[in-house]
Amino acid sequence: MNIEGAESRVKELSNLLHHYNHLYYVKNESVVSDYEFDLLLKELEALEKQFPSLQDQNSPTKRVGGDITKNFETVKHRYPMLSLSNTYSKEEIIEWEERIKKTIESDIEYVCELKYDGVAIGIRYLNGIFHSAVTRGDGTQGELISPNVKTIKSIPLKLKTPFPEDFEIRGEIFMPLQEFETLNEDRNKNGLPLFANPRNTASGTLKLQDSGEVAKRNLDCFLYGMYQDRSQQNSHFESVSFAGEMGFKIPRLRDKMIAKVSNVDGILDFIAFWEDKRKGLPFEIDGIVIKVNSYRQQEELGYTAKSPRWAISFKYKTERVETELKSVSYQVGRTGAITPVANLDPVYLGGTTVRRASLHNAEQIGKLDLHDGDFVYVEKGGEIIPKIVDVNIEKRQQSNQAVQFITACPDCSSELVKEEGGVQHYCLNEKQCPPQVKGKIEHFISRRAMNIDGLGAETIDALVESGHINTIADLYTLSYEQILSMERMADKSARNLLGGLETSKKMPFEKVLFGLGIRFVGETVSKKLAKAFLTIDAIIAASYEDLVDTDEIGEKIALSISEYFQDEDHIVLIEQLKASGLCFEKEDEGLDSEALAGLSIVISGTFNQFSREEIKKMIEMNGGKNVSSISKKTSILVAGENMGPSKLKKATDLNIEIINEQAFLNRINK
Ligand code: IVH
Repeated sequence: MNIEGAESRVKELSNLLHHYNHLYYVKNESVVSDYEFDLLLKELEALEKQFPSLQDQNSPTKRVGGDITKNFETVKHRYPMLSLSNTYSKEEIIEWEERIKKTIESDIEYVCELKYDGVAIGIRYLNGIFHSAVTRGDGTQGELISPNVKTIKSIPLKLKTPFPEDFEIRGEIFMPLQEFETLNEDRNKNGLPLFANPRNTASGTLKLQDSGEVAKRNLDCFLYGMYQDRSQQNSHFESVSFAGEMGFKIPRLRDKMIAKVSNVDGILDFIAFWEDKRKGLPFEIDGIVIKVNSYRQQEELGYTAKSPRWAISFKYKTERVETELKSVSYQVGRTGAITPVANLDPVYLGGTTVRRASLHNAEQIGKLDLHDGDFVYVEKGGEIIPKIVDVNIEKRQQSNQAVQFITACPDCSSELVKEEGGVQHYCLNEKQCPPQVKGKIEHFISRRAMNIDGLGAETIDALVESGHINTIADLYTLSYEQILSMERMADKSARNLLGGLETSKKMPFEKVLFGLGIRFVGETVSKKLAKAFLTIDAIIAASYEDLVDTDEIGEKIALSISEYFQDEDHIVLIEQLKASGLCFEKEDEGLDSEALAGLSIVISGTFNQFSREEIKKMIEMNGGKNVSSISKKTSILVAGENMGPSKLKKATDLNIEIINEQAFLNRINK
């Protein structure tokens, strides 16, 4: 294809993908399959690679992120980012409305909206193109986090016409509850500390240096206000509708997520409606916002130092109930981590009966100064699992003893060990402690690992308890008769399970590696390891230094991998799995060339024509290996802009070949 042909196809693909994206993420409509969407995206990626001059910062391919920002630049807001005055009382809402009526003589319309619980963002668009995104900061200046915000798929990169030439739109970035739950489940499985609530997680995610990681977290955004020197619209409501027409995600009138009302009764109705309904929303809100609709009236009302007089927020009280602590029990996870759980006198809270609450770890128990028989306050926050937020000391009996964290494993009685520098206690008897043995098998067969059908937690329990299996390798030695002898297992389910086990032998290496359940080796790390080392034998043979040298493998992970393979039993396990026919080698993905074969390459700084992720991919596709830090073994340093001086010095001292982006591209014939 010549450049003209490519240019028109790039435009066509780009428009189409922006359109599908809008339908899917803003309108909740799916008109093409994921597969078709991916095909188009891949085609666009390939063209952009082939013709770097056709690359565009706002191409749909940029949604996957990849840019790294070490330090976010601080920039001044063009319009200060104020806050809202808030109240928990309906009387104060009535008083606020009365004050408004004293200033404004004519009829007043109010717009009621949800108060999304996330992170405020201001996004500027120039000529219909995403220009920059800045956090609230101190209200006067915030941090420029554009690459991270661009990964949020409900935020358009290009607007539909007509649009104002230059304006800012503000809204709230949040993490949907489902996403938050999945993220924490994953972290729990991989032995990582859990995030506290969706808001903090959204905030932390937006500050990640690697926008590729942000992209994976599936944040979302509602827009609630337009800011420009002169507005074409006369009211807030008109502006919001207009934003919707330009392609932004705005609240839907028909879901009552926004409403226009003409008096305080309308406002109170809206508050009452969401009081209960908010619990069914797929994201968190912490109240509602009421705004005077007309811009002219807004101007008349003006501002205090901190907030507009024309708006107020009503906050719902977090529901909190008191109940008695009956006992504390302790759960053992797959990695041996011990989680204390409070057993409570059942109590009704936020639509469900609560019987248990997580206490996280010994430190949490200490912080609460929890005693046996205490009366505790339970709240339901962002998490589905409720938490104990306080103790009612007045009701404590003198005879009540402080809760003592256990010293031995509740399942196998091994002595517990506290992780160094951490807060978690572990049972180290991983090979015999029943919940750990079962948990490892459950993890191995889980959907994201080997995805083996036909085996539930109960059957695993029964198979382990009857002595038929003790490790994941034993799964492959199960006979039809053994399975059939289990309760609730009939001919069909037994065949189903054997079929599932057989199919799993075709699972790619990185899935098998993830399925082993090595601590801190999650899905992403497994993929990186498989790519960098290609075979399990190479990983086993790798030294700690080789591992740390690998792209995205830090010290903690490297140490965990080294320790895992130092254990002779694990080597035997791998041999058994190999003998059963599981895949322990990365399939040949068909390289573009062998131009970089055998070379260890470090990239540093930022690049003009390609993102860091793309350069890394090219290194792999041409036979090279990405390594993260410079050492004697490094073959080449690809130097981008803003590279740290210490890296450069180290590379020069070690006499390592240093090339720039263009020289690198020439080397692989691009
Ligand atoms: S309007 C002058 N509308 O609440 C302030 N804010 O304290 C105009 N928020 O950080 C803000 N939902 O990010 C507005 N529907 C909504 C909102 C909303 C959430 C946040 C906002 C700000 C805080 C105000």
